[in-house]
Amino acid sequence: MSPRQAKAPRRPVVKPPVVRRALPEDITEILGIDARSNPVPWSRQLFAKELERREGAMLVAVEADQVIGFIACAGQGDSWHILNVTVDPEHRRRGIGGLLVDGVVAALDGRPYDRYTLEVRVSNDAAIRLYRTRGFVDCGVRPRYYSDNQEDALIMWREPEGGDA
Ligand SMILES: CC(C)(COP(=O)(O)OP(=O)(O)OC[C@H]1O[C@@H](n2cnc3c(N)ncnc32)[C@H](O)[C@@H]1OP(=O)(O)O)[C@@H](O)C(=O)NCCC(=O)NCCS
Repeated sequence: MSPRQAKAPRRPVVKPPVVRRALPEDITEILGIDARSNPVPWSRQLFAKELERREGAMLVAVEADQVIGFIACAGQGDSWHILNVTVDPEHRRRGIGGLLVDGVVAALDGRPYDRYTLEVRVSNDAAIRLYRTRGFVDCGVRPRYYSDNQEDALIMWREPEGGDA
C-alpha cells in the first residue's frame, strides 16, 4: 500500500453548538456559568421562575452535552425584555452569544411583541458590541441602576425591521 492509500487518522467529529429551550435539569450548569460570569449572579429560584414564565423564553447553547451559555427573555409591558445573556468564559468570542440572541428572537417569533429592550452596564463593552451587531441601538441611560457598584445602565432597543429606530 502506498503512503497515499494509507488511511488518514480519524478526526473527532465536532458538532456545532445547538440552541434549544432550557429544561429544569439545565439549571445547575446555568448557575455555574452565571456565578463564573456575573457580579450579581441569580439564585436557583430566580432561574426556576424564568423557566416557568408563560410569556418569555429561556434558551441554552449546548455543545458536547454541556451547557455553554444561556439567555432569558421576558414579556414586560409592550415589549420583550432581555434579562440575561451569558456565555461560559471558556467559550466566548465563538459566536455563541450571537446564536443565543438570534435564537430567542426566532423562538419568540415577533409574538405578541416585536420590539426588544435591555439594560447593560455602561462599562460592558463586549455585551454592548454584541447587542449592536444584533440591531440594538442606544436609547438612554438609567443612572446608578446596578445596586452592587451604583453603575449606570445603558438602555438599548431593537425595533422590528422597517420600524422606528
Ligand atoms: C457578552 C457575552 C454574552 C458575549 O458572548 P460571546 O459568545 O463572546 O459573543 P459572540 O462571540 O457571539 O460575539 C458577537 C459579537 O459581539 C462583539 N463582542 C463579543 N465579545 C466581545 C469582546 N470581548 N470585545 C469586543 N467585542 C465583543 C463582537 O462584535 C462579536 O463579533 P466578532 O467576534 O465577529 O467580532 C459574553 O461576553 C458574556 O457572557 N459576558 C458576561 C456576561 C454579560 O456581561 N452578559 C451581558 C449582560 S447584559
